[in-house]
Amino acid sequence: MPTDAIVLAAGAGERLGGAVPKAFASLADEPLVVRAVRAVAAGGVDRIVVVVSPDRLGEAAAILEIPSGVALSIVAGGPSRVDSARLGLASLRGDPADVVIVHDAARPLVRPATFRAAIAAVLAGADAASPTLPMLDTIAFVTGDQISAIPPRAGVARVQTPQAFRRTVLARAHEAAAAAGDVSATDDCGLVLRYVPGARITAVAGDERNLKITTSLDMELATRLLAQFEGVGPEDEGPAGDRSSSRSSSGT
Ligand code: CTP
Ligand code: MG
Repeated sequence: MPTDAIVLAAGAGERLGGAVPKAFASLADEPLVVRAVRAVAAGGVDRIVVVVSPDRLGEAAAILEIPSGVALSIVAGGPSRVDSARLGLASLRGDPADVVIVHDAARPLVRPATFRAAIAAVLAGADAASPTLPMLDTIAFVTGDQISAIPPRAGVARVQTPQAFRRTVLARAHEAAAAAGDVSATDDCGLVLRYVPGARITAVAGDERNLKITTSLDMELATRLLAQFEGVGPEDEGPAGDRSSSRSSSGT
């Protein structure tokens, strides 16, 4: 069954700071979006649409490599993540039964197993699937400087991308959110939960190494993780075809 993927790269990257938007910032000499697209291609998808801010369309076309066997397109995103995902989805016409993946360019270290798990859950009957990880810290509801509640940690999870969806379910969620003018969701499973009552959303295994780059500390951690991947074959454990690995293993 064909699988499409939307790579979201239209954010400003305000929390990272820096001269260029986060998706165009380099991790070990390669922009996050280039790494993310390569990793998504290795995740077993047939088509990828990369969503970038309107003023970066030309730059994206210049730097993105076309992965072999995958159709790549680039479209302009919108002011919020929800807008960007909706615009990416709208650009991909396809069979309602297809699986559609949504992945953040801010997670360039994702490995193929995470895609396989999310896709398999949807093929097995789920409407949507997301990688999750256990919550390690205690969490609190805070208003100003006041802690109002500490919910039980058991049953709370951290949510990652790539998330997988049945196309019809993702489209329905985005149509309803657009009609309501709701751009608040920070992920697409959240949108499905809100706008597709009764949707079956499966939690699959997340990956601690698939970290989301938000701040400069995350960029430092990701640089270290990449170095750890060195010497590991791309089909096995490392992010797909990582160039810094091949460069260092060839001794240059
Ligand atoms: N994103 C997007 N379009 C937007 C906002 C976000 O495509 N209008 C994408 C980002 O490029 C990123 C992902 O959604 O890959 C997750 O968002 P986040 O980590 O918040 O990235 P930014 O919005 O770029 O960062 P910040 O919030 O610090 O500005
Ligand atoms: Mg953001």
